[in-house]
Amino acid sequence: MSQKLAIDGGTKAVTLDQTKANRWPPLGEEEFTAVKRVMQMPDFYEEAYTLEEKFKDYIGSRYALAHNNGTAAIHAAFFALGISPGDEVITPSYTYWATCMPILAWGGIPVFAEVDPETCNIDPEDIKRRITPRTKAIIVVHLWGLPCEMNEIIKIARRYNFKVIEDAAHAHGAEYKGKKVGAIGDIGCFSFQASKLMVGIEAGMLVTNSQGYYERAMALGHYRRLNNLPSESFYRRYYATCFGFKYRIHPLAAGIARVQLKHLDERSRKRNENIEYLDARLDTLPGIKTFKTPSYMKRVYYQHEVVLEEEKLKVSKDRFIEAVRAEGVKASGERYPLQHQQPIYKEKGIPLGELPITEKIRDKMLSLPTFPQANFDLLDQYAEAFRKVATAYAKY
Ligand SMILES: Cc1ncc(COP(=O)(O)O)c(C=O)c1O
Repeated sequence: MSQKLAIDGGTKAVTLDQTKANRWPPLGEEEFTAVKRVMQMPDFYEEAYTLEEKFKDYIGSRYALAHNNGTAAIHAAFFALGISPGDEVITPSYTYWATCMPILAWGGIPVFAEVDPETCNIDPEDIKRRITPRTKAIIVVHLWGLPCEMNEIIKIARRYNFKVIEDAAHAHGAEYKGKKVGAIGDIGCFSFQASKLMVGIEAGMLVTNSQGYYERAMALGHYRRLNNLPSESFYRRYYATCFGFKYRIHPLAAGIARVQLKHLDERSRKRNENIEYLDARLDTLPGIKTFKTPSYMKRVYYQHEVVLEEEKLKVSKDRFIEAVRAEGVKASGERYPLQHQQPIYKEKGIPLGELPITEKIRDKMLSLPTFPQANFDLLDQYAEAFRKVATAYAKY
């Protein structure tokens, strides 16, 4: 039976307080203690090395190099691979700018590829169409925490002889066929910025199994440490200058991130439980589709997105969002503008085509809270809000 919607003067479905349910990042006594401890260390920078040890053990990579943010880690990754003027790098357009803007910084050319609308991750079939003799690398993004199809991507890269960077800024702890993302391609990059699944408030990490990439990334922006490289290392000679950037992590951020890493899996488990509980209910409603995780992946949720199938509804997406918001739901449209539509690429002379699949799916996205600390009572109210609105607006 359809009830009067809150937008039409009916009673709100969501009445519980949501402040605590969505509070993030979780920072408390443990982090304060860590910050104090680092402030009292004889060598603050030792804290970065400890974080690197712990993080590489967690991810399963041979090397980890802490950075002052994820963007710096990505910039260093392109440098490590030797991206040079005229080199092409395949990238999704549906991502945060830090995935692809650093390509331009090295004179490289971002080549935007379509995503698969079932996952919003880069489509391996479209990658194949974008390869040219100048393709030097691909950067994939495990968008919102869902792993990309890594086996297929690695197979294509090996066949056409280019390298793979994983932008794992959204996907700390996610797994593809039993392997943690970030450690599957040639280089992986993480962000520990304040909204991420583990935070240093502002920090990042580069991981790799290649000693060569590790040393080259270090040469870009970690001058002092170059002195600690083995004497035969080519890059040791640059210890007094590096290559002109200063990318080491703030030691207090490293202290915070170390505490956060300990709690990462437990906190992601709670998010997953809450989101999966709600999604199972949303999936039964007309006009709403949730993202499915293949059995061979373990996903995490940096953001919680669902697809609104406007064609099955009598109202526009905007009106639907207004209606659920009136019920008390915290919902919004997609927040990432598509990269291939941004003026900077055109101004730099990057050849840009249209990406109709990416453009279409992005417009259908509805963003919901990730409920890091919610209980089922609140989620039941969310489910009820969506049931009211979706049934009222469904085209039967
Ligand atoms: C997909 C993606 N890549 C890279 C980054 C860059 O990380 P940072 O903000 O730590 O520089 C972010 C940050 O939001 C991101 O979402």
